[in-house]
Amino acid sequence: MCAAYSLQMRSACNAESGEHMCGIIGYVGARKVLPILLGGLERLEYRGYDSAGVCVLQNGKIVWEKSPLSMTSGEKVKHFASTLNAKKFDGTTGIGHTRWATHGEPNRTNAHPHFSSDGKFALIHNGIIENYQELKKWLKKRGFRFRTDTDTEVLIHLIHKLYRGDLAKAVAGAMKRVEGSYAIGVISTHEPGRIVAARLMSPLIIGLGKGENFIASDSPAIIKFTRKVHYLEDGDFASLTADKISITRQGGKRVRRKTHTLTYDIAEAEKGGYPHFMLKEIYQQPEAIADTLAGRIKKNFAGVTFGRLGITDAWLKKCKKVVFVACGTAYHAGCVGRYFLRDVIGLDAQVEFASEFRYFPPELDKNSLVVAVSQSGETIDTLVAVREAKKLGAKVLAVCNVQASTITRESDATIYTHAGPEIGVASTKAYATQLAAIYLLGISLGELKGKIKPAARKRWLRELSEIPRLAQRTLEKTKLIKQCAQKYRDCTTFLYLGRGYNFATAYEGALKLKEISYIHAEGYGAGEMKHGPIALVQWTYPTMAVAPRGKMYPKMVSNIEEIKARNGIVLCVASENDRAIKALVDHVLPIPEVSEELSPLLAVIPLQLFAYHVAVVRGCSVDQPRNLAKSVTVE
Ligand code: AGP
Repeated sequence: MCAAYSLQMRSACNAESGEHMCGIIGYVGARKVLPILLGGLERLEYRGYDSAGVCVLQNGKIVWEKSPLSMTSGEKVKHFASTLNAKKFDGTTGIGHTRWATHGEPNRTNAHPHFSSDGKFALIHNGIIENYQELKKWLKKRGFRFRTDTDTEVLIHLIHKLYRGDLAKAVAGAMKRVEGSYAIGVISTHEPGRIVAARLMSPLIIGLGKGENFIASDSPAIIKFTRKVHYLEDGDFASLTADKISITRQGGKRVRRKTHTLTYDIAEAEKGGYPHFMLKEIYQQPEAIADTLAGRIKKNFAGVTFGRLGITDAWLKKCKKVVFVACGTAYHAGCVGRYFLRDVIGLDAQVEFASEFRYFPPELDKNSLVVAVSQSGETIDTLVAVREAKKLGAKVLAVCNVQASTITRESDATIYTHAGPEIGVASTKAYATQLAAIYLLGISLGELKGKIKPAARKRWLRELSEIPRLAQRTLEKTKLIKQCAQKYRDCTTFLYLGRGYNFATAYEGALKLKEISYIHAEGYGAGEMKHGPIALVQWTYPTMAVAPRGKMYPKMVSNIEEIKARNGIVLCVASENDRAIKALVDHVLPIPEVSEELSPLLAVIPLQLFAYHVAVVRGCSVDQPRNLAKSVTVE
């Protein structure tokens, strides 16, 4: 057994906190606003929080309450709600906020909403004001007094200072002076029945109701009331009353934003009977992959169609280079895409970390295609990489799971994954659907460039269409995974090994274990073992090997033999009818036979489940691991 891990490790697992993102909700209409605000904030809990607050316009006053709310000790929005005297709040316009501290510790003073010194303006904010120190100095010189240590407070004093009878104008004037990122909601006793909102780099949507309208950072907060939404663009301002919405740019020019219809239902955004969103999303993978493939494989597997893509076939046919750019799990999907394009399509393909790309971009020109892979479509590093790629003349194709998210709106085209809302911070079904979309893209490029023969294309597409069924079968073999999770729960480190297409699988499996169970896990190319890591092998340092049948299998077997020769423990994801491997390793996590090229779609499933079950037996907060964000929208 591995060295027993210390008790504080177990308590550390319970010392969870959320993620670096805030929840925003606002309502203007005829209903009592308080329950709508609190219900909306509850639906945004998954974004993480360390305080919560609401404020309501009524009888010429702003009535408010806010307080620290410790996710680490399991407090929920309903705990905050229970402290409110509902009778105090009977207005019909209001804003609510769950905060994850970026500036200023999580206490009642620093919680949002923030108020002007005369108490007539209130504001909530998600994002970071980068020049807040300079603005604070400027405002203090003009007699403004600050009550909080937050960056946000400068906004409400600026708006107050600039107000000349038009709240939307005052907000626009204030944001003109601001550098950084924001999604804000503002109300004032001067203009009852109105909310003014603005967004730059932090997501914000408008919900369109009948005689009522909403603002929210994400759709689960308002889907109960409306499925019609506008996604605000960077630099948009919105002024909402119960029956009117006007969206403008700096300077007041009106713009129209498309009305999108939310297709998922509220149950989907809930756990649907699973103990955690993550487990539900792991089990949704067959359906998510099927949904992502649906309508994109021509009859009789004759080819791929993405419908009206914003990049023409003629352009794709002549593109010379493909660069995947992404972060985290999405980066691992790009690693698989790189090999598939190189190996099957014969294309010059690369993959880059978005956080590196923006400073050290590869050589790009007008014949380059940059594929930005992102579940949320809001990851700031990937968004900035998209902008950099366009500046360098490349065409940008997003592979994304969120309709009209910022990255999709700034890309030339988008292949949407249809994974449905992914709430668990650890990405699972989004990864599976990113792979499915990338394989389709590869086959489509191969078709356009005449790089794969019709028979081969047919074979790939037929096999790809089999994956949902094979993934379902993989999900049925979990007993051994749970046993392994029990057996290795106290390990302090794990080595994940893979080669070729499953090099990325090893990295992805290690990331899953790290991010939800807090066990150190290292993804490594198996061929690199002899260049160092083999020195670490001993019985307290188990290895998870990914070795399905294929070109790399013999090499993987010899790497595993090297580890076994040094008394290393080896768990191995392997093809289900591979008898030889059973004699070699300590535990086999079986997957159905599939081409090595497509095996990442199946090989990752046992690793997701292993990480999940280890995290559960270690008492960790699976859906909201400490220090992590579902989407990293601030740098
Ligand atoms: C993966 O489990 C993590 N949640 C994280 O690495 C994530 O994949 C990364 O932050 C990228 O997010 P995106 O796909 O929304 O851009």
